[in-house]
Amino acid sequence: MTFPTHRYRRLRQSGGILRMVRETSLSTDDLIEPFFVCEGSDVRQEISSMPGVCRFSIKNLVLEVKESYALGIPAVILFGIPDKKNELGSEAYNPDGIVQRAIREIKNAVPEVVVITDVCIDEYTDHGHCGIVNDGQILNDATLEVLSKMALTHSEAGADIVAPSDMMDGRVQAIRATLDETGQQETIIMSYAAKYASAFYGPFREAAGSSPQFGDRCSYQMDPANASEGLKEVLQDVEEGADIIMVKPALSYLDIISQVKSEVNVPLAAYNVSGEYSMVKAAAQKGWIDGEKVMMEILLSIKRAGAQMILTYFSREAAKFLNR
Ligand code: PBG
Repeated sequence: MTFPTHRYRRLRQSGGILRMVRETSLSTDDLIEPFFVCEGSDVRQEISSMPGVCRFSIKNLVLEVKESYALGIPAVILFGIPDKKNELGSEAYNPDGIVQRAIREIKNAVPEVVVITDVCIDEYTDHGHCGIVNDGQILNDATLEVLSKMALTHSEAGADIVAPSDMMDGRVQAIRATLDETGQQETIIMSYAAKYASAFYGPFREAAGSSPQFGDRCSYQMDPANASEGLKEVLQDVEEGADIIMVKPALSYLDIISQVKSEVNVPLAAYNVSGEYSMVKAAAQKGWIDGEKVMMEILLSIKRAGAQMILTYFSREAAKFLNR
């Protein structure tokens, strides 16, 4: 027999063959586009550290969502930037708050688009933490009540999916119970189950104005060094009633995505976060990388690792690429 028996390059001979043996493919169905919604009229303000990503007032947001949906993106996730912040983040559960109004307007204009909302009070608290603060401590159980009220107002406004991102213990159960008791049992919970205390959130905090005013998030978000703890968090959230689970960030946590995928049989999402987006944009602007190719390679890697949904600021660009 001649050597080598297996010539793997045989299956790389042409575009057609490559297509036939390709193991992973991306589709617009995989994408979830994040949006920042703010007060005011006719606002369309680019976030300096996230080229191509803007804060929109409600009317402009609706136009954007329409466009995304027309490109084949099935879902959006909303982050609110309120005018008013206070210690308790009470604007977060105002039935006429910025996100609640945005949901209603989107559902009026584009009823088919899946509306997901981020459930977390950091954008609504003056201290910028994801929980109620007392004496410099972030209180777990007191926060659950606020999160539940927030999720309920989103659901009542028409959100299809609520996505708690705070990392308090027991919040999935608390939110599920509140939704079930109020006739909102069809609302889906997508939990940010394994969310790490990551420096990759930097640009987002500029966008949302949600940097903690003291300390950091290490007492509630996870230590980047821990993998098996991520799995524990995921299993706990599934037990508490999460319908979809998420790993966040994505790129430095592909091992976690892969591990969760092989161990847990629940739809899995991954968040390709702001810093991951901005790094690519910055390098591409400098001409150091081919931004479009890197974008597609990153999204493919997240899918290959096991995520079936990807929350990404690249959604629009990726959808245009995929539709070509
Ligand atoms: C919390 C929240 C954050 C992100 C999503 N939800 C910020 C944080 O935890 O500090 C970050 C997303 C990103 O970086 O793109 N509301």
